[in-house]
Amino acid sequence: MRLRTKFLLSLVTVISSLTCATLLAVRQTAGLRASQEVRREALGTLHTFQVIQHEHQEALARKADLLATLAMIRSGDASAVKDAGEDPWQSDDCELMALADAKGKIVALHATIPGFPMEAAQAELKRSLATKETAGWWYSGTRLYQVALQPFYDGDDGNKLVGTVIVGRGVESAVRDLSQASSSHVVFRYDGKFVGNAVSYSAERQLAGRAREGVLSEKLNLDGENYFVALQKLTVDGIATITILKSYTESEQYLANLNRLLVGLGLVAVIGGGLLVFVLSDRFTRPLGSLVEGVQAFERGDASYPLPPQGTDEVAKVTEAFDRMRQTLEKNAQQKQELEGQLRQSQKMEALGRLAGGVAHDFNNVLTVIKGHADILSDRLPAADSLRSSAAQIEKGASRAASLTRQLLAFCRMQVLQPKVLDLNGLINEGCSLLKKLVREDIAFCFEPGKDLAAVKADPSQIEQILMNLTVNACDAMPKGGQLTIATRNMTVDEEFARNRPPMIAGKYVVLAVADTGEGMSAETKARIFEPFFTTKEQGKGTGLGLATVYGIVKQSHGCIWVESEPGEGSRFEVYLPATEATPDEQSAGRHPEARTESAEVVLIVEDEEGVRELASEFLRSAGYQVLTAKNGKEAVQLASERNGPIDLLLTDVVMPVMRGPEMAKQLQQRNRNLRVIYMSGYLEYNTKNEELSDDFFLQKPFSRATLIDKVQEALRRTPAGVGR
Ligand SMILES: Nc1ncnc2c1ncn2[C@@H]1O[C@H](COP(=O)(O)OP(=O)(O)OP(=O)(O)O)[C@@H](O)[C@H]1O
Ligand SMILES: [Mg+2]
Repeated sequence: MRLRTKFLLSLVTVISSLTCATLLAVRQTAGLRASQEVRREALGTLHTFQVIQHEHQEALARKADLLATLAMIRSGDASAVKDAGEDPWQSDDCELMALADAKGKIVALHATIPGFPMEAAQAELKRSLATKETAGWWYSGTRLYQVALQPFYDGDDGNKLVGTVIVGRGVESAVRDLSQASSSHVVFRYDGKFVGNAVSYSAERQLAGRAREGVLSEKLNLDGENYFVALQKLTVDGIATITILKSYTESEQYLANLNRLLVGLGLVAVIGGGLLVFVLSDRFTRPLGSLVEGVQAFERGDASYPLPPQGTDEVAKVTEAFDRMRQTLEKNAQQKQELEGQLRQSQKMEALGRLAGGVAHDFNNVLTVIKGHADILSDRLPAADSLRSSAAQIEKGASRAASLTRQLLAFCRMQVLQPKVLDLNGLINEGCSLLKKLVREDIAFCFEPGKDLAAVKADPSQIEQILMNLTVNACDAMPKGGQLTIATRNMTVDEEFARNRPPMIAGKYVVLAVADTGEGMSAETKARIFEPFFTTKEQGKGTGLGLATVYGIVKQSHGCIWVESEPGEGSRFEVYLPATEATPDEQSAGRHPEARTESAEVVLIVEDEEGVRELASEFLRSAGYQVLTAKNGKEAVQLASERNGPIDLLLTDVVMPVMRGPEMAKQLQQRNRNLRVIYMSGYLEYNTKNEELSDDFFLQKPFSRATLIDKVQEALRRTPAGVGR
C-alpha cells in the first residue's frame, strides 16, 4: 500500500471516529436535554394550573361569601341565587350558583350553561357536605366545575345554620388557557370518567390504567405518540384528577432535525477532512514519490531522472542528498569506466612497447654493424669504384631502418633522452624554416608564440620530432589545403581539469598546440591513433608510427597529449609539458666534429656485441686512438687492473651481461679518477630512468664514425667526471 493511501486512510479514520464520537455525544446530550425540557414544561404546566386553581378558589370563596351574605339577608330565600345569577357583572367567572337549605337540599340552582341536573347537583352537595369541604369539584355529567361552598348562619348567636351557598366555575377556560400557554394536553378525570374529548378512547383507557396504578409522572406512548404524563389529584379522595400530557413529538422533531444536521456536519467534516488530507498528503508525499521514482530509475541505470529541489524539509534534504550521491556515483562510475579504458589502452601500449622494444634492441645492434661497415666501405673504396654506390645504398637503407627503430624505441619510451631546459618558442622559431618546408603551398602556416612562456625540460631533438610528426599529419589531413596553426601558451591545470584528464596531475604546464582545418577523424580512429602501426593511410604511405612516437616522447618527458577532433571539423593536438622554473640552457648550436689530429690517448671499448665492438674500435683506431676492447664488465676490470699504463676514456655499452656499464665505470673510476666515460646505447631498459648516466657522455646507437669520434673528442676535452665529484 502506498504511503499516501496509508496516510489518507488513517487520517480519514481518525477524523471519522472523532466526528462520530462528538456527534453521538452532542446527540445524547441534546436528547437528554430535550426530554428534560419536556418534563420540566409538563410539570411547569401542572404548577401553573395549581396557581390558577388556587386563585380561582379564592375568587370563588369571595363570591360564595358575598352570595351567602345576600342569602342571609334574604333569610335563605331562593330568589337570592336567581337574582345573583341574572346580575350581569357576576356571570364571567361564576358559572354555577346554588343555594341549599339547612338540611342540605338544593333550593336554587343556576348555571350559565344549562345542563346541570338537580339530582347530580344534589349528589355532589351531599358528597361535599359529607366531607365538610368548603372547596371541591362538582361534575354535572358533562362539565366539571371548581366549586366553593359557604354555609351561612342566623340566630342570636349566629350559630344556626340557615343554608349553604355554592358557587362554581367550569374548568374549560382554565384548560384552554393552559393548553394555549404550554402547548400541552390538559385532561380532567372525574370519578373514572374523562371530562371533554382531549384524548382518544384508547389513550383514555391507557391513562385510566396508569392513574389506577397511581403513577404520577412518566413517559407514555399513546396512539403511537410519545407523551410525558404528569398526573395530579384534585381532591383528597382522588375522585378528580388533572393530567398534563406534553407531547415529545416536537422535541423528537427537533432531535431528528438535529440528527440530520449532525449527520450532515459529520459528512462535511469527513469529506472536508479527507479532501484536506488528500491535498496535504499530496503535498507531502509527492516529493517522496518523486524521490522513490528517482531511486527506482537509478536502480534501472537511469541517473538522469529529474529531481528538482522542493522546499527545505527533511524529504527535500534527503532528495538533495540522494541527487548528490547519484551524481557522485555516476561520476565515479564514469571515471571508473574511463580509467578502465585508459588502463586497457596503456596495458595494450605497454605490451606493444615491450614487443617493439625487444625487436628494436636487437635490430639496432645489427644496424650499427651494417651502417658502420658501409661507412668504412665508403671511406676506403676509391672514389671511382663502382661499389661505392652500393655501399652508399647500404648506408641509406640502414639509416632508414635505424630511423624506424628509433621511432619504435621512442614509442616504447626506451630512448635515451638528453633533456635540457628549453624555451619552446625559441626552439619552434628555429625549427620554423624546416617546418615550412614540410608544409605545402596550399596550406597557410602560422605560429602563435605564447607570451612569457615558461621553460620546459625536454630533449630538444625529441620536441622537434613531435613538431615534425604533428605537422606532417596535419598536412596529410588537408589534401585540399587549409590552415595549420602551431601555438604555445602557459596553463595552470587545476584539480578539476586534471581529474577529467587522468593521469594528468594539477600544476603549471606549457601547452604546445598543433591545429589544422583538415578532415578530422571519427571517434573510432581517435581511440587508436597512438597505437604503433595504426594508420588510415593507404599501404606504403604511412607506417603508423608518427603519433606512437609522439606519444612515447611526451610520456617520457612527463607530459600528456590530448586530441580534439570531429569528422570534417579539423583536429587539434595539445601537448602539455610540465613547466620548470629553471632558466633555459644555451642552445648547443653547431656542434660539428672537429678534424682530428693524431693522438695516442687510450680508449677502452666494452661491448658485448662483437660486431659493434669491432666497428667502434675500427673507427677509433682509424682516428689514431689506442684501443683496448673487452666483451663485458668483468673482463674490462681485469684488463684495467693488469694494465700498466693509464686509460683515458671508457666507451661502454649500458646494458650488458655479467655487469652493467655504469657499475663497471664506477669501479674503474675508483682506480683512475681521470677516466672519462661515454655510454653508448640504442635504448634504455624498459622504463628505467637514465639518471645514472651523465647527459653529455652518451652516444646514441647506431652511430656513424663522425659522431663517435666527435663524442670521444668532446669527452676527452672535458674535466673527468670523477675529478669533479
Ligand atoms: N591531424 C590529423 N587529422 C586527421 N587524422 C589524423 C591527424 N593526425 C593523425 N591522424 C590519423 O591518425 C593516424 C595515425 O597517425 P600516425 O602519424 O601515427 O601515422 P600515419 O600518419 O598514418 O603514418 P606515419 O606518420 O607513420 O607516416 C593517421 O593515419 C590518421 O588517420
Ligand atoms: Mg604521421
